Amino acid sequence: MTQITEDCPGVRRLGPTFGGELSGVRLSADTLAEHADAIHRAFLDNKVLVLRDQQITPALFSAFGVVFGEPDPHHVIAMRHPEQPNLTVLSNQDEPGRKPQAKYFGAGWHSDYSYKAVPAAATMLLATEVPDEGGDTLFADMEAAFAALPEGRKAELRRLRVRHQYRWSPDRADPWARWTFLSESEQAATPEVVHPLVRRHPETSRESLMIAPRVIGSVIGIEGMESTASDALIDDLMRHAVSERFVYRHRYRPWDIVVWDNRCTLHCATTDTLAADKVRRMLRITIRGLPPIPA
Ligand code: SIN
Repeated sequence: MTQITEDCPGVRRLGPTFGGELSGVRLSADTLAEHADAIHRAFLDNKVLVLRDQQITPALFSAFGVVFGEPDPHHVIAMRHPEQPNLTVLSNQDEPGRKPQAKYFGAGWHSDYSYKAVPAAATMLLATEVPDEGGDTLFADMEAAFAALPEGRKAELRRLRVRHQYRWSPDRADPWARWTFLSESEQAATPEVVHPLVRRHPETSRESLMIAPRVIGSVIGIEGMESTASDALIDDLMRHAVSERFVYRHRYRPWDIVVWDNRCTLHCATTDTLAADKVRRMLRITIRGLPPIPA
């Protein structure tokens, strides 16, 4: 049965606490402006918003991104679309000029650009080629995960800050270590940054956990905490946040658009377990946010 979320008519709930599919919208250059407010409201209410059957051009997808703010092109130049630099092209195939690791882009829980002083607000994918099965994206509701913690724990966590860095890895021999992607200038553009462990959403004012796993999530550790205690706390929070009750798995259909709010969710691609003969290509836009607001 189609469940319409109370806040947002025309939206069917997809996940346990979040995620919504918006119906009745067919994007075109003529209709984009007319739908922009409803789409933006549904995005804030649902945290992960899905629009089905949107067979649109890269140029129109680029214009769609602007509904959510200012695009922030990926700092790894080889990931960018040749004609629309605001778009990143994701592919699980060997593409000219790319490192093999790029095929598994995003495989691991993270929030986009959390390693920057100004992380991403929204990110969106347009599914241009999808396998008959696999290649799903997982999402975790970091607002619900924080809300479910005991009050005393919440108060302790609000006091902590986390060190992030894009290229950081505990094991430099690890083939997944992200720094192998980067040129010297790209490395220089991603210095260590520090963010609150609990942040307040700039548009909804709600609190969320801002944490990710240490390797792929670009987290070095909790500021001022000895590494064993810091690692244990991060692992514990991650186990809690990605437990089934907070997770939605999106199974793609061709021409799905999926938009997520990085300020209150984590996501995880599953391309590392996708067979090489299953082709998955997506266009992606990331929208610049604001420096995280401590809760
Ligand atoms: C991403 O991490 O931005 C991409 C997620 C995906 O490809 O499923």
